[in-house]
Amino acid sequence: MEIIICPDVDSVGRVAAAKVAQVVADAGPQAVLGVATGSSPLATYEHLAKLVEAGSLDLTQARAFALDEYVGLPEGHPESYAAVVRRTVTEPLRMDPARVQTPDGCAADIAQAAKDYERQIRDAGGVDVQVLGIGGNGHIGFNEPGSSFASRTRIKTLAAATRAANARFFPRADDVPRHCLTQGLGTIMDAREVVLVAQGAQKADAVAAMVEGPVTASCPGSLLQFHEHATIVVDEDAAVHL
Ligand code: GLP
Repeated sequence: MEIIICPDVDSVGRVAAAKVAQVVADAGPQAVLGVATGSSPLATYEHLAKLVEAGSLDLTQARAFALDEYVGLPEGHPESYAAVVRRTVTEPLRMDPARVQTPDGCAADIAQAAKDYERQIRDAGGVDVQVLGIGGNGHIGFNEPGSSFASRTRIKTLAAATRAANARFFPRADDVPRHCLTQGLGTIMDAREVVLVAQGAQKADAVAAMVEGPVTASCPGSLLQFHEHATIVVDEDAAVHL
């Protein structure tokens, strides 16, 4: 793991975006991105958008796979991850919408949708660079504490803490879906590069557990200690327990 501590959120985004852009430059125009939702990677996407606007990054032929999706939220729902990814990634990074995918959380057969998603990632040649955030309980994607290190894309029940954290995006706390489709920890570990961003004091415990704690399913992010090319970019508040 390479740990980079930055003075503020904007520099976290700038450093993480530079790392992603470097991988894309090495992988070529058809690079495959893995993208996370949540507030953590927004500064990274903003800096990637600046590189696109400046003409130093072209993602028109690149592909992207989202980490996860709520089960049962229609794609048109503004908080579905399909909609969030379109707003925060596809449009500002001028990507081809046909090349950006999210798991199908509304499929009649969710288990099949999970298998199909794994196959699509494999058929694309795997993920070149996976952008990640981390939950306050150490989750990555929606792999809650206790998730198997070997897990692949599957349906998961959201932890109460995660539903509470995400209630801010919905009119009522009870509107937060109870299930999600998420890439597994095994899926995430297959990415050739991982760039995880975290900021704010509310992430400090999870960051310390991920970076300096034991590798344990109690903190799914700690599995990244075994990844050969993981870069962790955090601000000073999130790094306070390191
Ligand atoms: C969400 C997502 C994760 C994200 C995490 C942290 O629910 N499924 O991909 O990394 O929780 O979210 P945030 O960045 O908003 O703190």
